[in-house]
Amino acid sequence: MTQADQSLARRAADLREQIHYHSYRYHVLDAPIITDGEFDALYQELAKIESQHPDLIAPDSPTQRVGGEPRSDLPKVAHAAPVLSLSNAFGDDDVLAWRTRIGKLLPDDTTLDYVVELKFDGLSVVLTYENGVFVQGATRGNGEIGEDITPNLRTINALPLRIPADPDGPPPPARLVVRGEVFFRLPAFEELNRQRTENGEPTFVNPRNAASGALRQLDPRITAQRPLDLACYQILDGEGSDLPTIQWNVLHYLYGLGFPVMLDYSRHFDDLGPLLAYIHTWEDRRHDLDFEIDGLVIKINDLAIFESLGVVGKDPRGAIAYKFPAEERTTRLLDVGVNVGRTGVLSPYAILEPVEIGGVTVKQATLHNFDDIAAKDIRLGDTVIVKRSGEVIPYVVGPVTDLREGAEQPITPPDSCPFCRSPITRTEGEVAYYCSNPDCPERLVRSIEYWVSRGAMDIDGLGERIVRQLVDEGRIHDVADLYFLSPDDLIDLEGFAEKKIDNLLAAIDASRRRPLERVLAALGIKGVGTTVAALLLDHLPSFDALIHATQEQLEAIPGMGPLTAVNIVDFFADPRSHALIDKLRSGGVSFQAEGKQAASDRLAGQTFVITGTLPTLLRDEASALIESHGGKITGSVSSKTAYVLAGENPGSKLDKANQLGIPVITEQELLDMLH
Ligand code: IVH
Repeated sequence: MTQADQSLARRAADLREQIHYHSYRYHVLDAPIITDGEFDALYQELAKIESQHPDLIAPDSPTQRVGGEPRSDLPKVAHAAPVLSLSNAFGDDDVLAWRTRIGKLLPDDTTLDYVVELKFDGLSVVLTYENGVFVQGATRGNGEIGEDITPNLRTINALPLRIPADPDGPPPPARLVVRGEVFFRLPAFEELNRQRTENGEPTFVNPRNAASGALRQLDPRITAQRPLDLACYQILDGEGSDLPTIQWNVLHYLYGLGFPVMLDYSRHFDDLGPLLAYIHTWEDRRHDLDFEIDGLVIKINDLAIFESLGVVGKDPRGAIAYKFPAEERTTRLLDVGVNVGRTGVLSPYAILEPVEIGGVTVKQATLHNFDDIAAKDIRLGDTVIVKRSGEVIPYVVGPVTDLREGAEQPITPPDSCPFCRSPITRTEGEVAYYCSNPDCPERLVRSIEYWVSRGAMDIDGLGERIVRQLVDEGRIHDVADLYFLSPDDLIDLEGFAEKKIDNLLAAIDASRRRPLERVLAALGIKGVGTTVAALLLDHLPSFDALIHATQEQLEAIPGMGPLTAVNIVDFFADPRSHALIDKLRSGGVSFQAEGKQAASDRLAGQTFVITGTLPTLLRDEASALIESHGGKITGSVSSKTAYVLAGENPGSKLDKANQLGIPVITEQELLDMLH
């Protein structure tokens, strides 16, 4: 043996040992410590070595037998026919290679057609019916011998206890053995975990484990409390005349007898091209389902051909699973960081030993909140399962407690804000912890990020780094300060050349004229995004009317929730909100509703500056009034100012107006101008 051969032989032996151990944990103990994807990777690596070096295939290799051992504490059942598994394809090339492989085993003139079905990520079950009555149900077990879980299966509503379910349906065969997959729908799974958290019980890491746990209960009353679902896809055995002989008809036949079959998601194809295109449509669509699939299954439609192709190990040659990239991996939780959001909410996140999930290296993942960390008993140093699914930000599913070594440390919320050291507060009945400081610099950074974001004021060129720099250097104290930035404020910022400064100031200027619903959304009132903002403005004549709207008025708007109504009233009751709105107005941000009928154009083209306290109008009411008649508000007096509206205790703006000879008017004079 060469040295290379020796090391390959060692690797194969090592893989065999690992696979044996993990399939024992999975099938027998029901307590896997690696994810399915990781298990698949080990298995594939071994299968590859063996296919290239058949001399390395040991008789006890896991590739040479069917599944794990059945668990010991449930009665055993011998299956009528082997309950097979599937080999995997991880891309189109694997499917084409499969087609070539089987092509070589079939007569030259064979044409094939195929059925594609969802690959349900659940637990395989075998259901036996005699003369139309459900008599026995079993798990797959090792493929030859399973566990009798008849009473548990009877609790599943989707499972027909008698076929045909419709008395006018086709007559039942004398004997029918049907295979299907039992699974949890996601809302039911989440509800189960919520209840378990409430009862102080450990939560399930995924719906499949939860389904397995529910089905293998010794007490079916516990199964009955868990709303499991079923999808059927195969006739394993049967006695009767008209049993279908092509897979497409099997699905329809089972459906006709009253079995749950997902016909809507199954397709028949004559060619692999359109078939693969169909499979690819599921890469994103899978996340719209309310249950989990881990791929799709391609089956040769003609079951005689399917049978004739035989089996390799436990995998029939006539079908193949097209697996999506694994969405879960295990890795180590190195540390927990804390973000502070614009509302002050503290959000913990996991700092992870980097791990590749579905082609992306994940170093950080969400930890939801501190209650969730406690409920799942996630500790520093734990091996954790991380999930990255579709558009969802990667999150920590839970710890693998069996891999604890003893040095893992509990995770507690910080005593003070990690950014400004202010005390942390928590409102009774809420899960979130808050930084108590409204002027926390981190909250400011986040609110500016929110203000400039696409859905809000959409200001290009203000990335997180620049925002941080502006805040750290004290050039911005609130979002309104953006509208008072001069080129001088930006000139010495890192990477800011003249052109970039011009562009940024132009982008800020453009945002002064955003539609009012955007401005309203950008203010960040809880529950008020652009859609709710637009709804509000549809029903209220002006921004001013919104400021003064009562809770009753707001709740009377169709589609308006009472909580959002409270949030809006609270926001406008806060003097800081008014100060901010005033400052934004002075900075030139328009609060004029687009398309709203202007009250008049009597003040068109005239710029006003307001100073001091007016006798009856609030400052933003006066601003709204001026704007509704076509006037503009600015913050400082210049030769372009048409009038200064002055109240009690005016500031230096009055002096400036006098110096420049700008007319100064009172509130009454303004009102007179308008009537
Ligand atoms: S067919 C010969 N069809 O996936 C029949 N299996 O990874 C072989 N599965 O053990 C199975 N959805 O438990 C088939 N539509 C489907 C399936 C499906 C899920 C499971 C099944 C199998 C495993 C293989």
